[in-house]
Amino acid sequence: MERVVLQKALADAGVASRRASEAIIKAGRVKVNGITISELGARVDAHADVIAVDGHRITIVDQKVYFLLNKPKDVLTTNSDDRGRKTILDIINIPQRVVPIGRLDIGTTGLLLLSNDGELVYELTHPKFEHEKEYEAEVEIPSDWGEGILKKGLDRLQQGVRITTGRTRPAKTRLIKKISTDHYLISITIHEGRKHQVRQMINAIGVSVVSLKRVRMGPIELGDLKEGEYRELTEQEVSALKKKNSH
Ligand code: URA
Repeated sequence: MERVVLQKALADAGVASRRASEAIIKAGRVKVNGITISELGARVDAHADVIAVDGHRITIVDQKVYFLLNKPKDVLTTNSDDRGRKTILDIINIPQRVVPIGRLDIGTTGLLLLSNDGELVYELTHPKFEHEKEYEAEVEIPSDWGEGILKKGLDRLQQGVRITTGRTRPAKTRLIKKISTDHYLISITIHEGRKHQVRQMINAIGVSVVSLKRVRMGPIELGDLKEGEYRELTEQEVSALKKKNSH
C-alpha cells in the first residue's frame, strides 16, 4: 500500500486538519508502532502501521470506490496467482484495495465490477439478491444443424438444463445474429453464478462456445469500454446498484 506522510494519514483518518495534525505530531502525542514520532516527515502505511494519538488507535476508512473493468482474455479475476499468471491487479491502478464483485473465467471477457464496499460486494455476490447477469456468446453449432435447432436449444436453456452442479434455474436467451456459417451470436441472462455456468449451459444443448463476454450486471452495462479499460461508476449507477433487486 502507498506510504504517506504521517500528518496526511492523521488528516485522512479525521483526527484534525493536516496543519493541526503537524502540531499534534510535534507535541509528541503520536506513536507509530509503539514509537513516539515528534518530527515531521515520517511516512507510514496507514493500513499496516499501528498509529495512535494520545494512546488511541486511529482507523482509516477508505473512501468507497466503484469501478467497472472490461476484463480482457487471459487475465485472472483473482488478486494473486501462485503460478504467476496475469491478474486484474496487474492491469489496474487504483489506490484503494478493491476486490472483484464475482468472477469471470480466465477466457471470458467483459464487465467486472470492482469495489472496496464490502457490503455491496456481499449483496451482489450472494445468490439471494438475484441480480441479473447478461452474457453474449459466440457459439458454433454442429454442421448438420440449422438455425431452427439452435433456437430450440435456446428455448431449452430458458427452462433450465442439467449441468454438473444440478439443474439451472430459468434463464433468458435470445439469438442476436448469424455471424457466419455455423457461427451465431447469442444472449443469455442468468441470476445464478455457478462455476462455468454459462459455458456449461451452452454445451448442454450440444453447442460449443467460441467466446464469452459479460455485458451487464443488474443495471450496469459494459457499454463501449474497450478490453483492459476501466472507469469509475457514476453516482447514478452506484445508487441503482444499491437498490436491491432493481433488475
Ligand atoms: N459463466 C461462465 O461459464 N463463465 C464465466 O466467466 C461467467 C459465467
